[in-house]
Amino acid sequence: MSGPAASLEVSSAERPVAVRVRALSRVHGRGVQQVLALENIELDVRQGEFVCLLGASGCGKSTLLHLVAGLDQPTHGEITVEGGQPAVMFQDAALFPWLTVSENVAFPLEMRGMARAQRAQRVAELLELVHLDGFAQHRPHQLSGGMRQRAALARALAQDARVLLMDEPFGALDALLRDRLHDELERVWRATGITILFVTHNPREAARLADRVVLLSSRPGRVADQLEVELPRPRRMDSPDVALLAGHLTRKLKEIIRGGARDENDEV
Ligand SMILES: Nc1ncnc2c1ncn2[C@@H]1O[C@H](COP(=O)(O)OP(=O)(O)O)[C@@H](O)[C@H]1O
Ligand SMILES: [Mg+2]
Repeated sequence: MSGPAASLEVSSAERPVAVRVRALSRVHGRGVQQVLALENIELDVRQGEFVCLLGASGCGKSTLLHLVAGLDQPTHGEITVEGGQPAVMFQDAALFPWLTVSENVAFPLEMRGMARAQRAQRVAELLELVHLDGFAQHRPHQLSGGMRQRAALARALAQDARVLLMDEPFGALDALLRDRLHDELERVWRATGITILFVTHNPREAARLADRVVLLSSRPGRVADQLEVELPRPRRMDSPDVALLAGHLTRKLKEIIRGGARDENDEV
């Protein structure tokens, strides 16, 4: 690294590791039902980095995220996550339907024993951050799908975790809304400096969001390839650069899937 520009911002490769995964394997089920979902996964995510895990349906992305979240235990291997329990956000917002937006966001703060007055202030800040400040007293069923995901994001951020795990969080939203939420997520990520591990099967979404894309093979899920994304931010989903990169990622994924299929045939 040299020159004045380089000294302004610490490049992500020099930052400490926030998520470290070593020799990780996970077998689901027993006996003849056994599925080797993940095999020998090695992965480092640096502080403040935005990493997308990209792979076909059923390749083990959710399994990996659940393991990093501590919701599942590895068959082999080790995982360390900076700052303890990471925050998690799934495709389904999973808000408490009987609580208002504001109460949903306050819930993790209450769990942490934050005093009422401080809690109210933090909830207001978070709702402003995700642009939901006018909807504090609404209940989840009164919100659109996109608003529910924003409320879920605010609730995840309320955990004050250093690492945020996201499992296809915008998969159920229409394309226009997804574009908007990509912009919002990028803004929140920059404002908070949080580390994000984001699962998707959509190459375009990975090209739009990631500092680095980690490609997973299928059955078993292995890290097949990695790619640093140097495109300037904010990116647009429909920009030629993002489309070009998405095309490249799609071809890579197809190669990986074909490679996997050939291996299986070789064994027969
Ligand atoms: N609890 C489970 N019991 C048995 N098999 C499972 C379980 N969870 C996932 N699997 C299997 O493990 C593989 C990976 O699943 P998953 O992690 O959900 O993939 P992805 O999120 O990439 O679609 C699939 O073959 C799936 O059927
Ligand atoms: Mg999944």
